[in-house]
Amino acid sequence: MYQVLARKWRPQSLDDLVGQQHVTRTLRNAVEAGRLAHAFVFAGIRGTGKTTVARILAKCLNCERGPTASPCNECASCREITGGRSIDVLELDAASRTGVNDIRELQEVVSFAPVRDRYKVLILDEAHMLSKSAVNALLKTIEEPPPRVVFILATTEIHRILPTILSRCQVFEFRRISPREVSGLLRKVCDAEGIRVSDATVERIARAGEGSVRDSLSILERVLAFCGDEIGDEDARLVLGGVRTEALADLTRSMADRDAAGMLRVLDGVVEEGHDLVHFWNETVSVLRDLLLARVLPGREDLLTRSAEETASLEQASRGLSREDLTRAFHIVADLEPALRSSSQPRFLFEAALVRLASLGAVRPIEEMLADLEAGGTRDPEPTRSSPTPAAASEKKKADPLSAPGPAGSDASRFLEAVRRDRPMLGAALDQAAAVEVASGSIRISFPAAREVMRRVTEREENLSFLRSCAEAVLGAGFDVRVGSSDAAGAEGRGAPAPPRPSAPSTPSGDESPPSPSRPPAGADRQDLLDRARSEPGVRKLLSEFGARVVEIRPLEETPSTLVPPDSVATEDPA
Ligand SMILES: Nc1ncnc2c1ncn2[C@@H]1O[C@H](COP(=O)(O)OP(=O)(O)OP(=O)(O)O)[C@@H](O)[C@H]1O
Ligand SMILES: [Mg+2]
Ligand SMILES: [Zn+2]
Repeated sequence: MYQVLARKWRPQSLDDLVGQQHVTRTLRNAVEAGRLAHAFVFAGIRGTGKTTVARILAKCLNCERGPTASPCNECASCREITGGRSIDVLELDAASRTGVNDIRELQEVVSFAPVRDRYKVLILDEAHMLSKSAVNALLKTIEEPPPRVVFILATTEIHRILPTILSRCQVFEFRRISPREVSGLLRKVCDAEGIRVSDATVERIARAGEGSVRDSLSILERVLAFCGDEIGDEDARLVLGGVRTEALADLTRSMADRDAAGMLRVLDGVVEEGHDLVHFWNETVSVLRDLLLARVLPGREDLLTRSAEETASLEQASRGLSREDLTRAFHIVADLEPALRSSSQPRFLFEAALVRLASLGAVRPIEEMLADLEAGGTRDPEPTRSSPTPAAASEKKKADPLSAPGPAGSDASRFLEAVRRDRPMLGAALDQAAAVEVASGSIRISFPAAREVMRRVTEREENLSFLRSCAEAVLGAGFDVRVGSSDAAGAEGRGAPAPPRPSAPSTPSGDESPPSPSRPPAGADRQDLLDRARSEPGVRKLLSEFGARVVEIRPLEETPSTLVPPDSVATEDPA
């Protein structure tokens, strides 16, 4: 006769139980010490071992070789309990026994001494469903417990059990079983049953059970019915309602190709197949997470949610995406969740996010850029932008003193833009600078005393070398970057940017430039300023990629650290 897995694999001793050590240890000690309570509440989510432990406890008490914490499972008493045939161990389902008759029955049951065993054990399932009158009868019985009667009340809803009952019982809370523990059990079951299945699928089934062992075993059963004894990863995915790996790989490939239409087609197909958006969102996040982890921690396949095969096909699809691209994509998608759940048009949101993903410029890893530079190139980090030629670079004779971000197209602003593109955090640090000046051959970044911390961050070796590589990439080989204080050298006002220095080709750097005051924006009204700030490429990028907002625009003197719109700063022509 076919027996469902959950039945077949019901633990028959405390040792066989997965998890719930806090329950089994306490019971074992109590049985061995002969100090057992006469009434228990077993509370917890479905399929975590409440009924199972209740039956094992009954065997502990009534085993012919007991009372013992390790019942023999062979004697008549044990076998009857296992088979549900014992007259002294009764299981009542409170959900179907709420009438007056049942109270009588209950009282009747407890009024007789055990027929053949040491103890009468009454297991009341769904105890929270007992009628008021039944609860009262039960309360009386527990208050004056008849000798050699043990009550076990099992419930999934402990908050619905009266406090007066709870206070007279020993309460055990059955916990969700961790995916790791459930996986271990599933592996044991599959091996014993001759089922071939990958670890990734075992884990997926374990997770799908959400902490309930019975649910996980039932899901395994469902997968078996579909696949037979050889469970393929993709088949299991489908049975579990997963999105086809192929669709996820298509999505990834389109992302790498910056192909918005392709991404939208995948979304369309997935929805057409009947997946809901939150589910698809979940899958997308987990793909990006897996891809990132695979890059960051190669060799740790155990951390991935997919099988080696599935991961390989996703990795193949993600070839054109850098680690930085993946990180950014992960955040954009992950941040979508609350809006997705609450919006009345979740699909529009999803589509907008995909379009945004497709429109992000490629982010090149610093290492790659450095490697390029070492190879002698000064390739611009973004293919769409033209590299400054050495001639163009050597033409940078004029000083270019500007506070961040500087007029669009100026050397300083192009440099800052390049920094922000690859290192947004460092870009934000530079926004705190009083001035970013480009003099012949070098860029000087000066921070006001109040931004000392930002100066130190910027001066860190790895940041400085990154900035230098940016400067060289944008402005030409040999461009140096210097970081200093805007207050230190001169006696000028707090936070004032350094002035332009008259530049002769021979000037080594802007280092010795004394700071000079800047003027507030002249004649520009607020709206105009806002518009101009928003249209500045660096700002535009911040707004679109980080969901930033322009809060305020102030003249440089007031707050040297604040973003200043183009042209609002004095830019004297030294020539
Ligand atoms: N902790 C566990 N260790 C091993 N198997 C378990 C565990 N919990 C549940 N199972 C498996 O799940 C099946 C059902 O468990 P059980 O009947 O004890 O759940 P329950 O907590 O009483 O659930 P419900 O609230 O639905 O009655 C068992 O037959 C067994 O196969
Ligand atoms: Mg139960
Ligand atoms: Zn026995």
